[in-house]
Amino acid sequence: MARILGLSAFYHDSAASLVVDGEIVAAAQEERFTRKKHDPAFPTEAIAYCLREGGISIGEVDYVAFYEKPLRKFERLLETYISYAPAGFKSFAMAMPVWLKEKLRQSSLIRKDFGGDFKGSLVFTDHHESHAASAFFPSPFEEAAILTLDGVGEWTTTAMGVGQANKITLTRELPFPHSLGLLYSAFTYYCGFKVNSGEYKLMGLAPYGKPIYRNLITQHLIDLKDDGSLWMDMRYFNYCQGLTMTSRAFHELFGGEPRRPESAIEQRHMDLAASIQAVTEEAMLAMGREVFRETGMRHLVLAGGVALNCVANGCLLREGPFDDIWIQPAAGDAGGSLGAALFVWHQLLEKPRVVSGLDSQKGSLLGPKFTTTEICDWLDGMGVSYYRAATEAELVDEVVDLLAADKVIGWFQGRMEFGPRSLGARSILGDPRSPSMQATMNLKIKFRESFRPFAPCVLASEAHKWFDLEPGQTSPYMLLVAPVHHDRRIEIDESTRRTMEGDPDLRARVNIPRSVIPAVTHVDYSARVQTVDVGRNPRLTALMTAFARRTGCPVLVNTSFNVRGEPIVCTPEDAYRCLLATEMDALVLEDVIVFKRDVSDRVDAAERERHLAQFQLD
Ligand SMILES: [Fe+2]
Repeated sequence: MARILGLSAFYHDSAASLVVDGEIVAAAQEERFTRKKHDPAFPTEAIAYCLREGGISIGEVDYVAFYEKPLRKFERLLETYISYAPAGFKSFAMAMPVWLKEKLRQSSLIRKDFGGDFKGSLVFTDHHESHAASAFFPSPFEEAAILTLDGVGEWTTTAMGVGQANKITLTRELPFPHSLGLLYSAFTYYCGFKVNSGEYKLMGLAPYGKPIYRNLITQHLIDLKDDGSLWMDMRYFNYCQGLTMTSRAFHELFGGEPRRPESAIEQRHMDLAASIQAVTEEAMLAMGREVFRETGMRHLVLAGGVALNCVANGCLLREGPFDDIWIQPAAGDAGGSLGAALFVWHQLLEKPRVVSGLDSQKGSLLGPKFTTTEICDWLDGMGVSYYRAATEAELVDEVVDLLAADKVIGWFQGRMEFGPRSLGARSILGDPRSPSMQATMNLKIKFRESFRPFAPCVLASEAHKWFDLEPGQTSPYMLLVAPVHHDRRIEIDESTRRTMEGDPDLRARVNIPRSVIPAVTHVDYSARVQTVDVGRNPRLTALMTAFARRTGCPVLVNTSFNVRGEPIVCTPEDAYRCLLATEMDALVLEDVIVFKRDVSDRVDAAERERHLAQFQLD
């Protein structure tokens, strides 16, 4: 027997994963427990949870696998600073003391954090090996081509290779500073969004623009080869030596200074978003074709932060050479903890891998769960009144009534998701047919005004009738974008289209109904689809089946259970606090429903402000 604890930490999105004899027992991000978004700290709480879930103590862990090699990373930082000296002195001076004091002593620090109780072996896997392992080992494929893409690990920014049975082999790498992830982040920064978290906003902005800067990017910033590798002209970037992403030459090329965060979004920014998105899709497609040529594999697996670009993933699946693609749901660095643990089991301990048709990620529902009894005890202790359904059918009926009456529901069921997406365990649900739902959910729940529609979940069996997906094609982890089916679209007349295109208010544009499910339809008819099946999400399937029976619509709005800037809720207490802080109508905690109208007298305005103020705008 081998109990392997995987860790990622000290950069962003710290996480822990527990693998016992090859089975993924638990995985969670530290931010969910500490309530600090993208928390980079040593994942003390996530580790405690994983051990609790596995019913073991740290003394019973055989291996701790850390997702990258600190010395190699230090070497990259040092070499980069030296080659840009003296320009990089300021960021050098800021980064080095931390490295010298903490990060280089990671192995002794990790042992120290366990209070001397950990007696097993400590293994450091390579950053991209961890991503690659997280993509291939849990996938449903016996063999597959592997592509990992992120900002940067130790040295590598992109890796290609192959996975067969219980082994992965990485054959090609692209070295820092040449990086599709950092290129995308440079545009994220330039368009006024936060690097490492605002990339999805840039992706959501792209459909408003035209890719008019595409040639400028490929002629000046990068040399994109036929095999998808790209070489960047570092005169346009500043991340090697400075504290910003882009240089003055970049700003001159694109006609101005970076957009100030939260200031007005201009057509130029939309066109820049569309342009970098087009280049990203082109590069990913070229890389996909190259790794296909090299390996001859029919399937592809993906991980690394760039693999969260679900528009590019959808394009790769539709236009690329592969029959099917599997993407690690925790594609960013949090998932590295899982990859590192699985790498030890399969690659180092040479344990076989059994493929059964389904992936072994368990719907990515790998976090804590709470029983109805625990929830009722807590609510009773708080003196909160609630309705407890006697059966699942009764619960589902009640929730369908609410959804059909345009109510917004907090849906808290089973184990929490691992990865950045809410997949129906910690979700806010609504009726996608309602033309006002996008604005309502944004203003009353998320406290933001957004130019992006929400994501839909759809019953897997009905997905191809509502979105351009093949019958049987699934997207269980919301990592593919597909267009809304032609039959569900609403034609926009020419005069509305013209007025809309000139409207500087993007929210007005997105709120013009383009389909019978307007709350989840983007301006280019695209939707970030999650397919829901009974195997992974039995209760959500029951709810959606009943909703479809009532309304004819097997689709719901599924957005993350949080307010703007808050990590997704973890416990019933987090969820209840979110109910009080927002204008959500009801909270469904396992078999129990708490109605907002029954607790509205408990809303303390000052307490609410304090709660909301702790989350920085993202
Ligand atoms: Fe990474």
